[in-house]
Amino acid sequence: MDATPHATPTTSSHAPPDHRHALAFRHVGKRFGRADGTSLEVLRDVSFDVPAGSVVSILGPSGSGKSTLLNMAAGLLTPDEGRVLVLGHETSGTVDWSRLGYMFQDDRLLPWRSALGNVALALEAGSIGSRERRRRAEHELARVGLADFAGAYPHQLSGGMRSRVALARSLVTEPDILLMDEPFSRLDAQTRTTMHHELLRIHRERAMSIVFVTHDVEEAVILADHIVMLSPRPGRVHAETTVTLPHPRLGTPQAQALVADLRAAIAGLSSDWVI
Ligand SMILES: Nc1ncnc2c1ncn2[C@@H]1O[C@H](COP(=O)(O)OP(=O)(O)OP(=O)(O)O)[C@@H](O)[C@H]1O
Ligand SMILES: [Mg+2]
Repeated sequence: MDATPHATPTTSSHAPPDHRHALAFRHVGKRFGRADGTSLEVLRDVSFDVPAGSVVSILGPSGSGKSTLLNMAAGLLTPDEGRVLVLGHETSGTVDWSRLGYMFQDDRLLPWRSALGNVALALEAGSIGSRERRRRAEHELARVGLADFAGAYPHQLSGGMRSRVALARSLVTEPDILLMDEPFSRLDAQTRTTMHHELLRIHRERAMSIVFVTHDVEEAVILADHIVMLSPRPGRVHAETTVTLPHPRLGTPQAQALVADLRAAIAGLSSDWVI
């Protein structure tokens, strides 16, 4: 892809991981078995890093293995080839939810629990008492602007509010790494923009790394310090781009130019990638 003053394509880093990396993917390959006995190659030789404190966006068409990468980072799946390191340690199949927050592709709110109950749920695996869980959940809901809706149930909330509850639930454990899988894809454009501002504000306030999966080029440019672009399945790193534009980026000529560059880079890569 073309270099611009604000986009510095780099090759994948193959240096040994260290503590500066929240996450490191090293030559990761993954296949899934199919009912007919064959296997589907989903990821091939994927290597990239998530520097501590950064926002890295994984951009790729549907089926390129984006969610699979996040699930490996979370320890929910293991790679068939290569290694995934979380804070310098190889994932072992057990998930340390105190260090990782995960916002899934759907919000996964429990309909029978209030907003407060859904957020407090993230703390129930630990040894924190119920009063303290409630206090922390209330605090987290207030931080995402939902102090007045703690008692509301998911069906009583708008799409944007549900997203905020899911965000609060993934933040309440104060994770080092927040994994986000197309978390705002179902929101209308305006609410999505609000959530982008909210997320960047939260990121400024906390020492946290964010991995943000999206198939939307503009969303990646608005949010990310670094963009890893995957090819169609089997997903490989097609290009990497560092973004140094100041925030807010939406609608600025530099951001629009970068979006155009990235769209040109993916043109022809995939027919089912809606850009
Ligand atoms: N547990 C599984 N068993 C079998 N196949 C799977 C499994 N998980 C994912 N796959 C397959 O792996 C491929 C990649 O899936 P993945 O969900 O990682 O893609 P994605 O890039 O997140 O796509 P999308 O943008 O549509 O969410 C898909 O073809 C999917 O069908
Ligand atoms: Mg996915």
